[in-house]
Amino acid sequence: MSIFRDDILAGRVALITGGGSGINLGIATALRAHGAKIALVSRSQERLDAAAGALSPGQVDARGFAADVRDTDALQAAIDQTVSAFGRIDVLVNGAAGNFLAPAAGLSPNAFRSVMDIDARGTFNASRLCFEHLAASRGVILNISATQAFMPTPLQAHPGAAKAAIDKLTQDLALEWAPMGIRVVGLAPGGVEGTEGMERLLPPELEEEMLAALPLRRFTTVDEVAQVAVFLVSDAAAYITGTTLVMDGASAMPLSGVLWRATRSAP
Ligand code: HXC
Ligand code: NAP
Repeated sequence: MSIFRDDILAGRVALITGGGSGINLGIATALRAHGAKIALVSRSQERLDAAAGALSPGQVDARGFAADVRDTDALQAAIDQTVSAFGRIDVLVNGAAGNFLAPAAGLSPNAFRSVMDIDARGTFNASRLCFEHLAASRGVILNISATQAFMPTPLQAHPGAAKAAIDKLTQDLALEWAPMGIRVVGLAPGGVEGTEGMERLLPPELEEEMLAALPLRRFTTVDEVAQVAVFLVSDAAAYITGTTLVMDGASAMPLSGVLWRATRSAP
């Protein structure tokens, strides 16, 4: 279900990194439902083929092109294949990411680098390599961030640093590329239920306590994130650029969880 008109993205082509699963696949599904043709880019061709087939029977209006966002030659090839299949790129969603819980003191330099490379360098790589296409279409980049970017979070120094770098890229690319008609926006969800990220980050035994600390008493959903993504890439957001929209149900406001717990029994 969507509150937006069906055809608001008709004629547009969206390339979505990390689009074969989870939140990014939810975004791909919503953009497709509003008329966009979809190119999914991540490492597993098998996963991409399954996802593209589900988005468009026969893969007519959705295709998957395998590439690791750290490998600029492979990424360039995926972008070229997208343009040969669909003729243009109007929307780039940078959603590819890696994450795991690890204390900074137990993180090898290569582990830190891996996450920085996938998230932050991958976001720059895809943005830079799509630049000419986005300038031609006066397109939009949507960077998927997370609250770890600005909220100190234990065991999350690596994705926190990577997502903070992405938020800074959102600002600086927005500034530099506005004259070419390219908007650059970010979206930072709180925990999203039923996703790989939550599976990796939230031990089941902590779920109840975590839910009790959330002001809205629930996590967000893939569909809710996807609807906000539709808005941000649509013409309704034409004057929004350089902004990362936080949609976390107020969970990352300073001390919100602690204060909520302290006051919820008060009248
Ligand atoms: C400590 C670990 C580790 C762990 C891997 N490493 N897992 N260190 N704890 N649990 C270390 C490895 O030992 C290695 O370091 C280095 O990281 C690279 O590991 P590889 O397996 O060689 O890397 P690669 O194959 O590139 O895989 C990347 C990955 C993997 C990030 C490690 O988990 C992955 O592919 N993830 C993709 C899917 C994913 O993470 N989805 C969740 C996104 S959700 P050494 O020194 O041994 O060589 C998300 C959540 C919310 O991001 C938002 C938070 C900001
Ligand atoms: P997910 O399903 O694991 O999505 C991550 C995607 O990135 C996968 O499809 C993966 O596919 C792809 N990927 C990983 N490494 C890649 C690489 N080197 N090159 C190309 N693609 C790569 O996880 P998710 O939880 O839905 O997360 C999606 C996005 O939302 C991420 O940016 C995440 O940081 C963000 N986010 C998630 C949450 C949450 O609660 N889950 C909260 C805030 C933000 P392959 O492994 O097949 O390559």
